[in-house]
Amino acid sequence: MSVVALLPGDGIGSEILDGPVSYLRQLERRGAPVTIAGPFSYGTSGWLETGSILPAETIEACRTADVILSGAVGTHPGVTSEQCPNPEAALIELRHIFDLRISVRTVWIPDGPDVIVVRNITGGAYAGPELRRESDGTTAAEDRMVLEPDRVREVLRIAADYAAQRPDRRTISVDKASVFATSRLWRKIAAEVLIPAGIPFDNVNVDRAAYELVKYEQLPGVVVTEGIFGDILSDVLCARAGSPALCGSAAINPDRKFGHGATALFEPAHGSSPHRTGSRRSNPIGAWLALADLLQWCPDLAPLGLGHAVRSAVERAVDNGPPTYDLAPPGTEKLSGMDEFNERVLDALDTPLAREIKETIQ
Ligand code: IPM
Ligand code: MG
Repeated sequence: MSVVALLPGDGIGSEILDGPVSYLRQLERRGAPVTIAGPFSYGTSGWLETGSILPAETIEACRTADVILSGAVGTHPGVTSEQCPNPEAALIELRHIFDLRISVRTVWIPDGPDVIVVRNITGGAYAGPELRRESDGTTAAEDRMVLEPDRVREVLRIAADYAAQRPDRRTISVDKASVFATSRLWRKIAAEVLIPAGIPFDNVNVDRAAYELVKYEQLPGVVVTEGIFGDILSDVLCARAGSPALCGSAAINPDRKFGHGATALFEPAHGSSPHRTGSRRSNPIGAWLALADLLQWCPDLAPLGLGHAVRSAVERAVDNGPPTYDLAPPGTEKLSGMDEFNERVLDALDTPLAREIKETIQ
C-alpha cells in the first residue's frame, strides 16, 4: 500500500491537482493499493494557517507517507512578499529532510518526443543553510558550492538509464568547466560513468546549451546537469514545449526505501501563478504528468501500468478538444478550461485497457 501525502501549496496549486486527485481517489475507492492523506499546507498557505512555511504537522504527514504529491509553492493571493518573503524555502527544506536529492523532469513536447532533465538538487548550488551566509547589506553574502563525487556519479547513473532507453536521441552533460572546479569534476565523472555504459554524449557548456535548446530543431533526449543549470534549462525547455505547464517534476531519493517516510515528491514544474488562482483556466498537464510519474514510482502501483495510461490519456485529451489558453494560437476562439480538459483526460482513462486494469484491481 502506498501512502500519498497531498500538499497543494499555494496559488493555483490546489485547483491544479483536482483532476489528478479525483483519479487517485477513484483508484483508492476501487481498492488499488493507495491511500491519500491530507491535504496538508506548506509554503505561503502554511504560513497563513500556522505561521510556518513548513508546519510540523505537514512534516509529520510526510514522515508517515511514501510519496508526496504537491501542487505549487510560491506566492499566494492576498499575501505580500514582505509578509512571507521566501515560501520556496519550504520545498527546499522538504527535499533536504527526506533526502530527495535528484530531480527528474519530463518535458512533454506536444509535437515531438519528450526530454528528460536529470539534476542534482540537494548538494551543489542547492546546499543547505550551512553553506550560505546572509548579508545585512554591508557584509558579503556567500553561497558555497560543494560537489561530492559520489553524488555526481549517482545523478549521471540515473541519466544513463534514461539515455539507454532513448538510444536514437542525443544526451548532453551540461557544465561550465571553463570556470568552475565543480564543473571540471562533473565533466570527469560524466566520462567515467557514461563511456563504460556505452552512452554517446556531448559535454556542453551551460551558455551554449541554452542557445542550442532554443535554436536547434532536434532536442536532446536527456539533459544531465548540476541543480541550478538544470533549473534554468528546464524552464527553457518548457518555453520550447510551448508552456510552463508541460513539465512533470519528480524529486527522488534513489535509495527508494519504502516505509521510512517520503521517498519522492511529485509536482508540476510551474509556479503558483497567483494572478490566475481561482480562474480554473490553467493547464493541468504538468500535474497529470506528475501523477503519471508517481504511479510508476510506487512498487505496488507500477505493475498496473497506470502511469502509461495517464500519459496516453493526456495525449488524447490534447488531440480531442480545444486547447487550453496557454497552447492556443492567437485568435483561437474556442478554448478548454481546466475542468473541461480534466474531463477529457478522465474520459480517455475510461478505455477498455483502463477498465481491465480497474477489474484487476477490484
Ligand atoms: C523548480 C523551482 C525550485 C527550484 C524552487 C521553487 C526552489 O524553481 O522546481 O524548478 O529551483 O528547484
Ligand atoms: Mg525552476
